[in-house]
Amino acid sequence: MKIRKNTILNKLNESALKKIIPFHMPGHKRNIQCSMFLRKLGAKYDITEIPGYDNMHNPDGIILNVMQKAEKLWNSKRSFLLINGSTCGIQAAINTLADPKDKIIVARNCHKSVYNMIELQDLKPVFINPVINNELGIYGSIEPETLDKVLTNNPDAKLVIVTSPTYEGVISDIKSLCQVSHNHNVPIVVDEAHGAHLKLNRYFDNSAITAKADIVIQSLHKTLPSLTQTAIAHVCSNNINCENFQRNLSVFQTSSPSYILLSSIEGCIDLLLEKKDIIYTKWIKILDYLDSRLARLKNVKTFYHGLSKNIVYNGVFAYDRAKLVINTDGLNINGKKLFETLAKDYGIICEMYSGNYVLAMLSMCDKKSSVRKLCNALEQIDMIFEGADTNGNKVNSLLYFDIPKQCLDIRTARKKEHICIPLNESVSRICAEYIWAYPPGIPLLIPGEQITSDIINMLLKMMSCGIELKSDYNNEGYISVLRDCC
Ligand SMILES: Cc1ncc(COP(=O)(O)O)c(C=O)c1O
Repeated sequence: MKIRKNTILNKLNESALKKIIPFHMPGHKRNIQCSMFLRKLGAKYDITEIPGYDNMHNPDGIILNVMQKAEKLWNSKRSFLLINGSTCGIQAAINTLADPKDKIIVARNCHKSVYNMIELQDLKPVFINPVINNELGIYGSIEPETLDKVLTNNPDAKLVIVTSPTYEGVISDIKSLCQVSHNHNVPIVVDEAHGAHLKLNRYFDNSAITAKADIVIQSLHKTLPSLTQTAIAHVCSNNINCENFQRNLSVFQTSSPSYILLSSIEGCIDLLLEKKDIIYTKWIKILDYLDSRLARLKNVKTFYHGLSKNIVYNGVFAYDRAKLVINTDGLNINGKKLFETLAKDYGIICEMYSGNYVLAMLSMCDKKSSVRKLCNALEQIDMIFEGADTNGNKVNSLLYFDIPKQCLDIRTARKKEHICIPLNESVSRICAEYIWAYPPGIPLLIPGEQITSDIINMLLKMMSCGIELKSDYNNEGYISVLRDCC
């Protein structure tokens, strides 16, 4: 394959690089004779910032060139390359817009990177709950009216942060959310980690970039052809001081960026700039094929695909059809069993499972043969596991969801002495750790929140259904609570 001129990859292939006698990092010195693993992992391309190769933290050469291509592709005001995932972009965005102890409006289903930032900066979060759709068993959208009310009650809030699309593909009415935020003169950050493929084709619309959210962060590695950890942050309004944002990105990104990752970002952008129409047309055909096959299923339910392709579900503004939620309510197995059956009997590994569904991620790189195999498997499963579950071994992981009472802020709770007690004895105690169902890494309880019997029952039920709960201290069946506050 011909390598384009003036790209990072081209520079990594240049004979000039091969002629350099490296007395600089990395320690492997691109000497692939040192060990087989270095050769296999492509260490000959593995450099970080050296003269002539630009600087990600102050770009004016080959890296600036990639940023400008990204701005053209997504039609953003400025786009910044991220090689520490969306995580660092989210954290830099929050740090750009909020000072320590500021109040911020946070969708409860935000990723843990947001919570970590709240803790680091001792921010005062006001949570907003997305709508919960019990039919789907997943979080729905954030309603603009809810945001408006919260902003009216909290005029001192410094920013709004929401996730859209969610891990399960639910999209919020970002245009209205942006209007509401801007009416209150508050900037809005959208975690679009799962939506880098939006905006590039009419079939996948509702990107926060089009809605002119102030900062939009996307993981390229999640849904586009790019290596793990690669992501991008777009500034889409005039409300952001880009120099300040760039400086904050330097706080949260490594000072030794991998040029293999930077080159991957460029390769992904170049591919889409050149061929996105062809690629999307092919992909949409595969999705149509998937839908036609899923429409034949009798017991397996797939929301927004197959027969329910055009149904509008309560509390869901729009849906990203690159996600496939495979619901088990019509089967006599739960999400975990479906996940394991797909893996063991069909060699298909999906992204995650929950109480009553499995999440499969679709992308423009899916082979038709793989999609066919998934459909074949689901057709068999549809017959083998026919019939509703009578053992009650399913759980809709969102069944309770009032946001627990916050008795202490996260940082204060973290500093207090804690003890580990059995979960079923923890009612009314103050939680000292995060409890997540992971993935997607959205906390069910956070430090400082009061534990209720509803929450305990929910967590116990989740565990009995095989949902993996993660916590800071990882003691199954136990929970860390503050020693003194009851
Ligand atoms: C909603 C959401 N936001 C942000 C992230 C973090 O993305 P990254 O892994 O690119 O740092 C994730 C990761 O799973 C996520 O699900």
